[in-house]
Amino acid sequence: MYRIFFSLVFRRMDAEAAHRLAFRWIRLAARIPVLRTFLAAALAPRHEELRTEALGLRMHGPFGLAAGFDKNAVAVDGMTMLGFDHVEIGTVTGQPQPGNPGKRLFRLVPDRALINRMGFNNDGSLAVAARLASREAVFRTVVGVNIGKTKAVPEADAVADYVTSTERLAPHADYLVVNVSSPNTPGLRDLQATEALRPLLTAVREAAGRAVPGRRVPLLVKIAPDLADEDVDAVADLAVELGLDGIIATNTTIARDGLGLTSDPALVAETGGLSGAPLGERSLEVLRRLYARVGDRVTLVGVGGVRDAEDAWQRILAGATLVQGYSAFVYEGPFWARAVHKGLAARLRTSPYATLADAVGADVRKAAA
Ligand SMILES: Cc1cc2nc3c(=O)[nH]c(=O)nc-3n(C[C@H](O)[C@H](O)[C@H](O)COP(=O)(O)O)c2cc1C
Repeated sequence: MYRIFFSLVFRRMDAEAAHRLAFRWIRLAARIPVLRTFLAAALAPRHEELRTEALGLRMHGPFGLAAGFDKNAVAVDGMTMLGFDHVEIGTVTGQPQPGNPGKRLFRLVPDRALINRMGFNNDGSLAVAARLASREAVFRTVVGVNIGKTKAVPEADAVADYVTSTERLAPHADYLVVNVSSPNTPGLRDLQATEALRPLLTAVREAAGRAVPGRRVPLLVKIAPDLADEDVDAVADLAVELGLDGIIATNTTIARDGLGLTSDPALVAETGGLSGAPLGERSLEVLRRLYARVGDRVTLVGVGGVRDAEDAWQRILAGATLVQGYSAFVYEGPFWARAVHKGLAARLRTSPYATLADAVGADVRKAAA
């Protein structure tokens, strides 16, 4: 049904305009009490066996919405209503910024992929913090806050910009993510080098501690799939060294070659980060590598190319405690999160694992034995 609607309506529209329209509908539906109650009851994960504890938080299921869809925290209830069990808002930057000019989101339909060069368009940490502070939550859900660098801030002042966002947003975050992996802010990904990442994460950890003295806000870092394997290892080691709570793997890729893309070459050549199905293999590989290195010492969040429950299950077996998705939601529609949770429950039931936690990393442990 959604696929027909997608081909007839969304596919004919500009990708960002279609996103805005869908987003408006979701927010509208979430404002109608009867409708939102009905949808939430139908779509929320309610399989006992999927109950998940991660980052010191209790969740109904492991599958959530990746950053970038709700950059300004205006649709947390709407996305929860659609069955995402955690919602990562952002990326939010220290200062508000419009993002890149012109057309900046492209659909590669035959590849079930997207290319975006949005450039962190967002209302800024002051406005988003105020919004989160005054939010009257309809549904209780886990809200992750993803922060990044303001484009206009020089790289030398990056730490201060992240610290400003942390001071404002940490009080409202169930977990905080330092995003150093978007390809659309010049120089951002250089912060993944351990010499830059160590002081950044240390400063953000301290700022979160100062801003929220009574609670340890879980701190995660989100990395790119384009890191060389040794750099993935270096981030893993740093995470253990700093006592980081988690790593999110991965963001979008700047790679195009070797992904088997069949879309119009002119589209494939658009600048930006590629997400969706073709990203899956590398994201999974990065996840496996991280798990082999950190085991249970750091919580891993698997994102990138998850199309269905089977892909989500593979992420769990590769070491992910939580799984996220974005691009496939565009192609699969409003019942996607429910289908993923339902399929995960079915897989767990027929698996040799008693609990979801037992399944986390099982493939990697098996390979190492
Ligand atoms: C249009 C768009 C905007 C995004 N914006 C952000 C962002 O602001 N911050 C971030 O950390 N990731 C962002 N992402 C990356 C996603 O969170 C996710 O890591 C990536 O898309 C891979 O997952 P997927 O294949 O399920 O889409 C964005 C992705 C898309 C498609």
